[in-house]
Amino acid sequence: AGKEPLRIMISGAPASGKGTQCELIAAKYGLTHISAGDLLRAEVAAGTDSGNKAQEYMQKGMLVPDEIVVTMVKKKLLEAVDQSGGWLLDGYPRSLSQAEALDALNIRPQLFILLDVPDEVLVQRSVGRRYDPVTGKIYHLMYAPPETPEIAARLTHRLDDTEEKVKLRLQTHKANVAAVTDSYKDVITHVDGDRPKAEVFTEIDKLLSELQEGETNKVVIG
Ligand code: AP5
Repeated sequence: AGKEPLRIMISGAPASGKGTQCELIAAKYGLTHISAGDLLRAEVAAGTDSGNKAQEYMQKGMLVPDEIVVTMVKKKLLEAVDQSGGWLLDGYPRSLSQAEALDALNIRPQLFILLDVPDEVLVQRSVGRRYDPVTGKIYHLMYAPPETPEIAARLTHRLDDTEEKVKLRLQTHKANVAAVTDSYKDVITHVDGDRPKAEVFTEIDKLLSELQEGETNKVVIG
């Protein structure tokens, strides 16, 4: 029997490691990785009206209004569903209204992963984070340094990765997370994200492979 596509959400404070784990999950399980933050940054870079408006909120560490984010994510998600592939939603939903917008489309995850990382670790992770614009890979100057001087020379730094901005993003996260986790309490799993990234992935990998086995068996038996 073919394997059932997985439907996964991943959440956690800023710099808790969502994007890092999503790279590993998407590569192994072939899921479409939809990151609300990445979609918004692409829109900002393209200089569209939505992007310009979104940037005002992102710079303040606030949630971008639903009329921009909901439409953007919905389009990508429905494309993934149409291709009957699995999906991995990263940093979405982040408010009750976004969760309700998904419910209205009958879209629910089989698993909601919440990465737990202490506040003091988040600032260090965020300030040292770098992106490779060529491969999209996430690095950290200390914890995940670039492999070659050539890569090191082209890395970029996000404007909202300063200590001050991370603290604002963390406040926003804390103000909204309970509303979202309440919506998914039947499928929520906490994962300790304050460990080396390979160790965090080993735990997530185990959860996903068990889930995939279970779903495949359901299809075979049913
Ligand atoms: P977004 O881009 O989603 O930012 P975020 O939630 O603050 O999360 P980050 O991307 O900062 O971190 P991450 O958890 O992916 O960590 P990473 O793996 O990179 O959103 C940006 C903004 O867009 C928001 O502030 C908001 O304005 C807006 N927005 C986004 N979604 C929205 C929504 N749904 N509604 C409204 N507005 C929205 O890791 C961080 C660093 O740590 C890296 O350097 C990495 O190498 C390192 N690292 C990762 N794992 C480990 C580990 N295990 N050990 C050591 N280092 C590690």
